[in-house]
Amino acid sequence: MDVLDFGCGTGLLTLRLQPFVRSITGADTSQGMLDVLNAKITRQKLSNVRTQILDPRESASVRGSYDLIVSSMTFHHIPEIEPLLEHLFAITSFSGHLCVADLDCDGGRFHDSTEGCTTSVSTARRCAGLSQSRI
Ligand SMILES: C[S@@+](CC[C@H](N)C(=O)[O-])C[C@H]1O[C@@H](n2cnc3c(N)ncnc32)[C@H](O)[C@@H]1O
Repeated sequence: MDVLDFGCGTGLLTLRLQPFVRSITGADTSQGMLDVLNAKITRQKLSNVRTQILDPRESASVRGSYDLIVSSMTFHHIPEIEPLLEHLFAITSFSGHLCVADLDCDGGRFHDSTEGCTTSVSTARRCAGLSQSRI
């Protein structure tokens, strides 16, 4: 299985999934985050983990084709969730899966501010046409 971790940060989720997949790509807009993940990849000599830097003005630029896309605690940073979801669906293989974990109705408490935090899971779910959250 080929997996994308969208907004991977330092790879906490990426590296938990790594032993179970053929390949996993960590994509993020922060070169600093990817530098930390790349150092872990080198230190642990992992051959099935790649990183991809994203343009912060265009998250939908992520490339590849994936059986599974995961994203943890990143969607609330994305102002335009609909084009991103369309793009993620376009690069998910037939019968693939998109798994999103994020804030919902948090009211800005996680970041002590709502600034820069725009999308709740409910909004993403509505955009994707899904009727219910599955936990
Ligand atoms: C709270 S961290 C979560 C990191 C990781 N997914 C985890 O659960 O540990 C949010 C991450 O989203 C990234 N990010 C912010 N805006 C983004 C965007 N437009 N596209 C992709 N990643 C973004 C940040 O650089 C950061 O690494």
